[in-house]
Amino acid sequence: MLDRLFRKKNISDSIRESEGFNGGLKRTLSATSLVTLGIGAIVGTGIFVITGQAAADYAGPSLTISFLISAVCCVLAGLCYAEFASMIPVSGSVYSYSYITTGELLAWFIGWDLVLEYLFACSSVAVGWSGYMLNLLEGIGIHLPDHISASTFVYENGSWAFRGSIVNFPAVFIVGTVTAFLLGGIRQSALANNIIVAIKVGVILLFVGFGLSYIDTGNWTPYIPENVSGEFGKYGWSGILRGAGVVFYAYLGFDALSTTAQETRNPQKDMPRGILISLIICALLYVAVTAVLTGIVNYKDLHVDAPIAMAVDRAGEGLAWLSPLIKLGAVAGLSSVILVMMLGQSRIYYAISKDGLLPKTFSKVNRRGVPQNATVFASIVTGLTAGLFPLDVLSELVSIGTLMAFTIVCILIIVLRKTQPGLHRPFRTPFVPLIPLLGAGVCLLQMFALPLGTWLRLAGWTVIGLVIYFLYGIKKSKLGNGK
Ligand code: ALA
Repeated sequence: MLDRLFRKKNISDSIRESEGFNGGLKRTLSATSLVTLGIGAIVGTGIFVITGQAAADYAGPSLTISFLISAVCCVLAGLCYAEFASMIPVSGSVYSYSYITTGELLAWFIGWDLVLEYLFACSSVAVGWSGYMLNLLEGIGIHLPDHISASTFVYENGSWAFRGSIVNFPAVFIVGTVTAFLLGGIRQSALANNIIVAIKVGVILLFVGFGLSYIDTGNWTPYIPENVSGEFGKYGWSGILRGAGVVFYAYLGFDALSTTAQETRNPQKDMPRGILISLIICALLYVAVTAVLTGIVNYKDLHVDAPIAMAVDRAGEGLAWLSPLIKLGAVAGLSSVILVMMLGQSRIYYAISKDGLLPKTFSKVNRRGVPQNATVFASIVTGLTAGLFPLDVLSELVSIGTLMAFTIVCILIIVLRKTQPGLHRPFRTPFVPLIPLLGAGVCLLQMFALPLGTWLRLAGWTVIGLVIYFLYGIKKSKLGNGK
């Protein structure tokens, strides 16, 4: 029995599957498309919403330092992703790396965890998109009634209740629209993403460029507000650290890039570039936005849902023209996060199904090179989740799923260097085992800081996954059936 659970895929078989016919997927993505897909997946709710709250509650103007610390943590994991994605350029990301390194059961466990991350990331961002869209519509005098614009269920005082609403229609709508692009093929999806990224980065640069002259440097003094005595995380250096944990969410998404390795023209070279360059660009954008934001508005006033829009309003008449553009940038920004995360989700179903652990239908690819059934399935579950459930419950599961994936990638790098030192590694994570150990350590620390309820939900999700594996995957596994 144990042999079956720990059977490993051969790395050359995995690489061979991705050559020639390439499982029907098309290799069209260039290094530039990867960088823009990365920015598309990363820049979203984090910068447009969470920045203000984190500055107000934890770090004040020194949230810039929090963003830098969080970026360093992501780069540690990013370096490990880069080694794997260049060495094993297939769609399954950590799931596939794990199948080769530690065997089937752990691979399934992490694949199921990636489904959790991408499913809940897409649906929570879709609910956030709905909120911004309703606000934009209100601005032009259109009001959608509650029964088609709020989640069906709410979670209050420890139990679920029916809110009386039918469904969060705008959230379902954006998921459906994104699906239409994804079904059009990876080239079309990348093009849509490029346009969206140009809009959101353009809007952010306008804010930074024009906002500079409205900065009151008095708002930056003191740069690190004094810690509220005895309270960990309330300003001071502990506040900077807590801020770093909170804004970690703003960097999520770069890992989804690795699921497109099988659709990249030159993954050996371009995957590491795509992952690391997009992370660095986003870190620079985040630090610049935070500096300008906390320079225009005093951090104490920033606990609002749309901090950047608020800063523009505070700047006065001179910047009034930028206000609608900021909202448009946010709506655009969130759309591309959903696009890339849903792309990632469908590629995980595709990769798992190719190995026989999920039904074969998910690895069917249409003539445009899209795993069509996996994409439609991802769309249905994401649409249902986003339409029925509220934002807070959805978003808390995203971080724990991601941190778990990052920890495992870091550990797998060390394991594979020991067990298969001779493999061709086009990109090598520097200073192994130091960098992966630091990466895993930081992620574990952040996981332990999450509430017990989140851990219990993760445990529940894992149990469901194990039931599916023992009822289906273990018997249907291609590896197990000698295929
Ligand atoms: N990084 C993504 C965002 O901030 C998840 O929306």
